Amino acid sequence: MKHLLSLEKLSPADFEKILHDATAVKRQRGAHPSQPLAGQTWALIFSKSSTRTRVSFETGIRELGAGVMFLNANDIQLGRGEPIKDTARVLGRMIHGAVIRTYAQADVEEFAEFSKIPTINALTDDEHPCQILTDIFTFQETHGPIAGKVVTFVGDGACNVPVSWIFAAAKLGFELRIAAPKAFQPSAEILKRAGGKIVCTEDLKGAATGADLLYTDVWVSMGKEAEAADRIRVLGGYQINAELVKLAKPGALVMHCLPAYRGKEIDAETFEAHADTIFTQAENRLHVQKAILNWTVS
Ligand code: CP
Ligand code: NVA
Repeated sequence: MKHLLSLEKLSPADFEKILHDATAVKRQRGAHPSQPLAGQTWALIFSKSSTRTRVSFETGIRELGAGVMFLNANDIQLGRGEPIKDTARVLGRMIHGAVIRTYAQADVEEFAEFSKIPTINALTDDEHPCQILTDIFTFQETHGPIAGKVVTFVGDGACNVPVSWIFAAAKLGFELRIAAPKAFQPSAEILKRAGGKIVCTEDLKGAATGADLLYTDVWVSMGKEAEAADRIRVLGGYQINAELVKLAKPGALVMHCLPAYRGKEIDAETFEAHADTIFTQAENRLHVQKAILNWTVS
């Protein structure tokens, strides 16, 4: 039994195992030789909105043989203040695994500790591990091993998505450049914890030059809506557009974890020019998360 709570805690061997298994899982869709979750019941407990994560986990859990229930955190007693550790101890006696999207990383960790069932972080304010595992899988499908490559993240460099990229970089041996205004660069403490080759800069063009992958995420993450006007002002210009793509390596990929806000972190033309990659990336959430589910029960 294993949890996926953070990429910081995932060993390089487990990274490789999940990424390797996802290839077979994708190929075998509709004809899986075994259903490792047969007879189980899983719950999705979400405190934030979701399209991709919710639908891919609900579909993936069913395809692996289990039943699944979606619990909006506000509809259960958790939303009225029942402690996480009590919710976890109740569910741990009834169901076989949980997928949680919430604010505090500590809440996912507490759920895992008290429920004693496999627990998967489906996004917290600190990390989005399932997304970055999928992004790396998607990159490797067309561009081979990510080790030794250059990944440039553009935008809010301090939110969950770049933080998970930071923890992946040291484990898998690629260079990560974060192009962000000073106020939106990752904390020195996270960089120190992660190690690896991470360049943080305000120089967007320098960061994009020679990159194998240009990547962006929303400027206003869930929970930060009150800061929207300020963020849009300060992050203005940290956008993936045709001019920036020209600086990257020929054949470089452009990715977006979605949802995308055209005219902000990416312009409409560049988004459409790279839509095939971006929607393959979205589809791959299903395959990679099935590999993650298999790994948690192995
Ligand atoms: N990228 C991602 O996690 O999308 P959702 O918020 O729609 O789940
Ligand atoms: N950083 C974004 C990711 C959305 C998938 C957020 O937290 O809203």
